[in-house]
Amino acid sequence: MQKIVILTGAGISAESGLGTFRDEDGLWAQHRIEDVATPEGFVRNPELVHRFYNARRAQASGVRPNAAHEALARLQTGHPGEVVIVTQNVDALHEAAGAADVIHMHGELSRALCNACGTRWASPPEMSPADTCPSCAARACRPDVVWFGEIPYRMDEIFGHLSGADIFTAIGTSGQVYPAAGFAQEAAEAGAQCVEINLEPSAVARAFAETRQGRASEVVPVWVDQILRG
Ligand code: OAD
Repeated sequence: MQKIVILTGAGISAESGLGTFRDEDGLWAQHRIEDVATPEGFVRNPELVHRFYNARRAQASGVRPNAAHEALARLQTGHPGEVVIVTQNVDALHEAAGAADVIHMHGELSRALCNACGTRWASPPEMSPADTCPSCAARACRPDVVWFGEIPYRMDEIFGHLSGADIFTAIGTSGQVYPAAGFAQEAAEAGAQCVEINLEPSAVARAFAETRQGRASEVVPVWVDQILRG
């Protein structure tokens, strides 16, 4: 039975209405990474960082999964082997589509983290520098998202999955941010067949044996149907 490992990025949620990072009108064209997505930025101006993630949380709460998220959930149910979904996205659209055990390597907008004691809990819709940790009461609450300069979550587990993958597919990710950008090469070296689904070739397109270009909502369901037909 074939084990399938899938990596998703902002492009899979674009057609649900969530902006990507690096496209022309993307989030990083409107905000400086150093200000809103680094530990140093948070120390300098926690108010600004909370405002940025509060806005993203509000936006994410009003969107629905699209046909690509739904197709991946269908693949998990219908494929006889293991289907592991690893996402760089902090939205919950895979889960909303019915996917199970999604690995959020860059954290989740719906979670909060205490910088003082490491406790995690469900975040309120709006966070602020005045919030106190439910466990240690420190005023050190942050969104449970991974910032630049921090180590993504569950990396050992992810590399374990990559080493056992028969098929590795990356969907809607620009291949600009490591370690995720290195997953295709890792999987290929372990013997997986690597497929890239994206609007355009990513920065690491050469690591993939096969490229399918187009919108995730159109290309992913076709790819899933092919796998399910066997
Ligand atoms: P990017 O914004 O870098 O890339 C999104 C990719 O999706 C681009 O290659 C687009 O061409 C493609 N795309 C856009 N719309 C699409 C569609 N409808 N169908 C298919 N592809 C589409 O986003 P990521 O690669 O996810 O990290 O970015 C990786 C990380 O960088 C993020 O997790 C975030 C960011 O900075 C942190 O904040 C730590």
